[in-house]
Amino acid sequence: MNNIAAVILAAGRGTRMKSELPKVLQKLHSRPLISFLIDILKDAGIKRIIVVVGYKGELVRRLFPEVETVTQKKLLGSGDAVRVTKRYLSGFKGDIVVMYGDTPLIRRETVEALIKKHKKEKTPCTLLTADVSDPSEYGRIVRDEDGNIAKIVEYKHASDDERGIREVNVGCYCFKKEDLFSCLGSIRINAEKGEYYLTDVVEMLAKRGSKVSSVTCGSAVEALGINSRLDLATAEDILRKRSLEMLMLKGVTIIDPGSTFVDMHAKIGKDVIIRPHTVIEEDVVIGKNCEIGPFARIRPGTVIGDHVEIGNFVELVRAKVSSGTKIKHMTYLGDAVVGRNVNIGAGTITANYDGKKKNKTIIEDGAFIGVGAILIAPVKIGRNATVGAGSVVTKNKDVPPGDTVVG
Ligand code: UD1
Ligand code: MG
Repeated sequence: MNNIAAVILAAGRGTRMKSELPKVLQKLHSRPLISFLIDILKDAGIKRIIVVVGYKGELVRRLFPEVETVTQKKLLGSGDAVRVTKRYLSGFKGDIVVMYGDTPLIRRETVEALIKKHKKEKTPCTLLTADVSDPSEYGRIVRDEDGNIAKIVEYKHASDDERGIREVNVGCYCFKKEDLFSCLGSIRINAEKGEYYLTDVVEMLAKRGSKVSSVTCGSAVEALGINSRLDLATAEDILRKRSLEMLMLKGVTIIDPGSTFVDMHAKIGKDVIIRPHTVIEEDVVIGKNCEIGPFARIRPGTVIGDHVEIGNFVELVRAKVSSGTKIKHMTYLGDAVVGRNVNIGAGTITANYDGKKKNKTIIEDGAFIGVGAILIAPVKIGRNATVGAGSVVTKNKDVPPGDTVVG
């Protein structure tokens, strides 16, 4: 989409978070809040993304070098934040999508529907609304008697009647560029809050006689704006459920969804059974017909083949485990390559970190590792070799294929 640019507002400190970090860098589902917005916009095919930064903006800039950033020097509100992008967009012709950096649950499909409607209806502004059961402190969408959007009123300034409105402003808009910046040039500062509200552009357009269109979110949870740690935990739970639902629909059995955490970018094959209290982190890949858990933690960089059994209190990180292998009890394997049909006895530990760097353990096909073994990396256990129970295999003392070591 070449005739669309996107602006993400991310300058706020997020006072309600009570944190030293800028709000958009708070971690949700193991990644900074703002990365959800950047991903949605990129996936929707928008090439030009401008992020307005302010409080500790250099941190945001460093983490996302692929996007353009503009600094809002004084945090004078969402309207002012968009205004600072004007200079950067001077040569740009087209429409501008504006999103708030603290709304990570909006789906790509929803943003695409908003853009589609905007293009079809050719109004100066199309905005995203949600019908929520508890409108709490969101801006309320005020419509006239014909059902047209007349204004957005912030909770703080709303009358009792307006507070009763359940259609709220999600904070995702598509504007015609000229209309946006001409209105932003004329909005007044809100005396009570000392801020220029982006939402005032909507009222200005309506007063000029322009129609403001809207799209309603398919699901009200998309509207969740993250303003506090409580919101963060609510969002985490929603994402966790979204990820588990997707897996179950694709053929993964999850015995206890309430105690299972699977990152939404993990890939898990059909007929895998995940037992309670299991954590599967980002970019993990698991093949078909495996059994995982209970109480397993599979960390990033781990790739597991088919028919693998990972049992209780097993932690894997940056581990490649081939098909048919069993790692069933109380084991830590880090930076390990484990072949096919290997048996790892209870309590096996790889000593992968020597205090300076991470070293590799290689366990070849068919090897048998007895209980309580300590494998000090770098080390290789050859094909069909046996490591006796309680052995300490010291670094670089590779066990040749078929051999047995004890002690
Ligand atoms: C805002 C909306 C409200 C909407 C809600 C949805 C306004 C005036 N209000 O309220 O109608 O229902 O979001 O979640 O827009 N920001 C800047 N610079 C500033 C101020 C804010 O970049 O000077 C950024 C923040 O970093 C944040 C976003 O704008 O990402 C929204 O600001 P926030 O303070 O969270 O607004 P809300 O009170 O949630
Ligand atoms: Mg907010």
